[in-house]
Amino acid sequence: MIEFIYFSQKARTSGNWQDPMKAGRMDIVFNVVIASLFLSHKIRENVHLHLIFNGPPNPPMHLEFISNKDMPVSKKDIAGLIKRMLYKYKEGRKTEVFPGCFIEKKSFSKVIEELENKGKKIYILDKKGRFIRELDDKDLENVVFVLGDHEGLPKKELKKFKERVSIGKETYFASHTMVIVHNELDVRGL
Ligand SMILES: C[S@@+](CC[C@H](N)C(=O)[O-])C[C@H]1O[C@@H](n2cnc3c(N)ncnc32)[C@H](O)[C@@H]1O
Repeated sequence: MIEFIYFSQKARTSGNWQDPMKAGRMDIVFNVVIASLFLSHKIRENVHLHLIFNGPPNPPMHLEFISNKDMPVSKKDIAGLIKRMLYKYKEGRKTEVFPGCFIEKKSFSKVIEELENKGKKIYILDKKGRFIRELDDKDLENVVFVLGDHEGLPKKELKKFKERVSIGKETYFASHTMVIVHNELDVRGL
């Protein structure tokens, strides 16, 4: 299982938007969903993706995708899927909108805290971190990779996490970063 958390400070937390570019860069979210969950012609198995939206009007929202064969995710309509999930949010509970697709109100720090409590290693994806190819296979097991949008990650909340992992010296798009991490693990057979 490979696990990612994507954080967006401005992504909208309601489904009533038309232009994804004006909805807190929802266009980046579409790329992130495709890059993390899809291979050519099929959905990847064993991916757990968390999206944290912190934009107006009802932050924070935690959208969760646990890949499975019944997941109704089509590359052609990620916007429809995200909107539907946001519309289906119910106060005070976690709702499974489609098989493996959940929404609830939960903050970035709470999601990370819960994963840590489950024994997961939290790796912040950061170009100044340790180069991923220098890590042993064992270091890449039971890991959650955390990455930000075009504005990066909230520095204050990340202070307590020491492990920073880099995929190289360039600054990549969030979605490209996910593909490169996937490829590293694919090549290693992890
Ligand atoms: C477009 S970048 C963010 C750029 C933003 N201006 C910043 O400085 O953080 C989106 C995310 O991809 C990840 N990322 C980009 N390049 C990376 C690299 N070389 N190594 C590791 N992670 C990277 C980071 O998590 C980053 O938050």
